[in-house]
Amino acid sequence: MYVKREAQDALLKWYSQNGRFSLPWRQTSEIYHIYISEIMLQQTQVGRVEEHYYPLFLEKYPTIKDLANSSLDDLLATWSGLGYYSRARNLHKAAQICAKEGFPKSPKEFMKLPGIGKYTASAICSFALNQTISVVDTNIARVLKRLFALQDPKDATIWEYADSFLNHQNPKEHNLALMDLGSLICTPKEPKCQECPLEPFCKGKENPTLYTQSKKVKYESLELFLGLFIKDNKLALVKSKERLYHSLLTLPHTDPIEENFIGKFKHSYTKYRIDVYLYKIEECSQELIWYDIENLESAPISSLTKKALQFL
Ligand code: ADE
Repeated sequence: MYVKREAQDALLKWYSQNGRFSLPWRQTSEIYHIYISEIMLQQTQVGRVEEHYYPLFLEKYPTIKDLANSSLDDLLATWSGLGYYSRARNLHKAAQICAKEGFPKSPKEFMKLPGIGKYTASAICSFALNQTISVVDTNIARVLKRLFALQDPKDATIWEYADSFLNHQNPKEHNLALMDLGSLICTPKEPKCQECPLEPFCKGKENPTLYTQSKKVKYESLELFLGLFIKDNKLALVKSKERLYHSLLTLPHTDPIEENFIGKFKHSYTKYRIDVYLYKIEECSQELIWYDIENLESAPISSLTKKALQFL
């Protein structure tokens, strides 16, 4: 496989000159740190995780035991703003298991933990344990689809190609290099093929966008009518039972009564485009939790609720 070897070498050479080595989770092989970074990076942009959430999280929960011993409310408050709160709930459950039994030692074992799919399991085992396994995230999948001209392949097919292209001498660097290539060069729109180390080997270079026709996301519009209920410098919150915000504290729902209208704003969350209307209320039939207004900063609330609180 002469060509494969040449392509692998070109990729690693490019990586040594262009890789994102300064990312903090790439400067450690501490499995707990890498685990946290991968969970955060599942749905949040690298820059936001790097600058804010990752360092803050590790300062607050320096070890898996600290995380396991924290309360879910405390964790949800720390997660506030990152969205996709099921990640935090799963992390909390998984931390109890790992603190007691130790971290799993293979992707298969990792996938038994809540919130860990094949990508995350492989990423942790590759980046923390340096195992000889392939990793496929959306960036790597795009590179492989173009490199091997795979149109609408099944996920399992992409993993097979990743396995066959894996560099067994340097598996971890190979995986990170593919990830960075996808992020920096082999981008969804207008890839920089002239700068790509895999260009001589790429079967998809004539028409790279052929391999990235994304499934259209269907947005859903929602309207929310929320109540601001304040008494003695305390704000009334309720524990959400909605799946998206489960266990987080949110403002109570109310009926829209025009004379009590305070303001409105727009909020996007996952596939939802939400119009939020705020009303002053002075009674409520839901079970209320009274929260000191001064302490709201550390409350387990979502970005939507935080936005609403700007009207206070
Ligand atoms: N380095 C290691 N894992 C990463 C990820 N998921 N995203 C970006 N850089 C990473």
